[in-house]
Amino acid sequence: MTPESKRTGLVAVKVGMTSTWDEHGVVMPLTVLWVDDCEVVQLKTEVNDNINSLQLGAGSKRAKNVNGRLLGHFANLGVPIKDKLSEFRVSEDALMPVGTPLNVSHFVAGQYVDIQGVSKGKGFQGVMTRWGFRGGPASHGATKSHRGAGSTGQCQDPGRTFKGKKMAGRMGNKKRTVQSVWVWKVDPARNLMFVLGQVPGNRGGFLRVKDAIRKKPDMDRTPFPTYILPQDELWEDMPVLTAPARKNYWDRFNKAM
Ligand SMILES: *[C@@H]1O[C@H](CO)[C@@H](O)[C@H](O)[C@H]1NC(C)=O
Repeated sequence: MTPESKRTGLVAVKVGMTSTWDEHGVVMPLTVLWVDDCEVVQLKTEVNDNINSLQLGAGSKRAKNVNGRLLGHFANLGVPIKDKLSEFRVSEDALMPVGTPLNVSHFVAGQYVDIQGVSKGKGFQGVMTRWGFRGGPASHGATKSHRGAGSTGQCQDPGRTFKGKKMAGRMGNKKRTVQSVWVWKVDPARNLMFVLGQVPGNRGGFLRVKDAIRKKPDMDRTPFPTYILPQDELWEDMPVLTAPARKNYWDRFNKAM
């Protein structure tokens, strides 16, 4: 492992939200993530594929719901049928063989992760909802123009509406990344992790979780390239690890008072 080493992330499922209290009695909103049978499906190397990366698969699907090409992909590589595939670029020393299981112990409580997913779709929304426009006046002679966008251009010059003008349209259902999410608890026996705050998407949606790029974890504490359970141990016996409350989280609360 060198300082430039980059390990893979995980594919997790958003289970839902819950909350708890830290030792100061400050409520902590938490999102529960479940790592559902995540394993290495394909190994790509610089020599063969011009890239060092790992394609991970998670979840499962019945063969009748998967198209033929994808079935061939799984069959050729000798892995079970996965519901979700996602590729992670890694450094050469973090490559792992096909079939390597990835469990939640890949991450350590107290580290920061970046979480990517598809945000909840809001449908076709007007400018007030989509962009926070103020709309028109509620009274004083305003008729039928309370939530409209108003004018979208200027005068004869420039004589057109600029590209990218904020207008009504489809909102949400976009790929979004939440950076530097704090991992509060890692529960290896149930393959669950609890992170502080929100992550994109609906319950049941798949997410890409990887080491934060802005708040890099301590490489000596995170398992590299991933956590492998020792032969004579059981997942059920692994302790649940909880990080001590973050100091700056408490500070922020004090300021708000
Ligand atoms: C760890 O990952 C493997 C492979 O995806 C899976 O079979 C196993 O159930 C996971 N362990 C736990 C405790 O869920």
